[in-house]
Amino acid sequence: MSEELVNADIRLAQTLPSEFYTDTGLFAAQRNAIKSAWQFVGSSEQFTSAVSPLPHLDALLNEPMIRTNDDGIVRLLSNVCTHRGMVMCHEETDKKTIQCPYHGRTFGCDGRLKHMPGFEQALDFPTQTDNLPSFHLKNWNGLEFMTLKAELELDALLQPVQERTGWFLNGLKHDAERDRDWDINAHWMLYVDNYLEGFHIPFVHPELNDALDTKGYTTECFEHGVLQVGLAAADEVCFDLPETSIDHGKRVGAYYWWLYPNLMLNVYPWGVSVNIIVPTSAATTRVLFRSYVKHADLLDQGAGAELDKVELQDQFVVENCMKGMRSASYERGRYSPTHEQGVHHFHRMISSLK
Ligand code: FES
Ligand SMILES: [Fe+2]
Repeated sequence: MSEELVNADIRLAQTLPSEFYTDTGLFAAQRNAIKSAWQFVGSSEQFTSAVSPLPHLDALLNEPMIRTNDDGIVRLLSNVCTHRGMVMCHEETDKKTIQCPYHGRTFGCDGRLKHMPGFEQALDFPTQTDNLPSFHLKNWNGLEFMTLKAELELDALLQPVQERTGWFLNGLKHDAERDRDWDINAHWMLYVDNYLEGFHIPFVHPELNDALDTKGYTTECFEHGVLQVGLAAADEVCFDLPETSIDHGKRVGAYYWWLYPNLMLNVYPWGVSVNIIVPTSAATTRVLFRSYVKHADLLDQGAGAELDKVELQDQFVVENCMKGMRSASYERGRYSPTHEQGVHHFHRMISSLK
């Protein structure tokens, strides 16, 4: 696919053709981009068991995994039994021996095969391939990320996030009560497109619009992502920014980070809402909200309030755009040069996939 499908000059560019949202071949390439990316695992403090299955990573990557904690040594291991491929753990457990429920093979929390009944006469057994494979896992400010392919250093991906908002990202506590799993009848890229512009806020989100000073809304594009900064309306909650912040002196109400291709970190004065976009088919998407609270007293205030309502408002437009993508009368549109730089950046990135 030509990189110039979307012109580098936003003033001239056309948006992606609608087949990008309907074609199953293109969808397979997009899934591969997700498989190559860093994915969010969770916060270290939210994992309290020796063995924790990670179903969202299975859904994203077709790779069943467990996070193990072996007296402080944290690992990400395959959850697929090396005998005949059974997925082993479905619930958290504090047992430090992982036993396959199919034929009883056992593994340690380090992934090493411990025991296998009925293999006394097997020759050249066990070998290294009988142990559970492990995956790259990295801790960043207490938040854990993983990748199947370490093509890009996590620090390089997160450098802009660290520089701008790293000062805030400590002491976050997972609040499972605030987690949500949303199922949406739309292609995953429509969800990302919608996220990447604040252009629609006055039309789609009247309550959020009241909480923001929409004239102060900015979009910045980075090599691997986009940052949108929303300034708080007068009387609405904003960050107490340190003098070292380049935003010091501004009344910032929200930092909206998107990291290519399917991760969003929404940094609000109350804490961080992580959105993980899981494409479940070319026409359906599951969006996971995971909430990490720092200042509980600021919950339900300002731009970070009423997230469920805002989400449903977004889903309405995203699902209706999906209907539009299937219409024979629509092929592609144009970008607002002042409001849709983030969407343009994403489209340039995703359309360059081989
Ligand atoms: S598949 Fe696990 S022991 Fe057979
Ligand atoms: Fe929105």
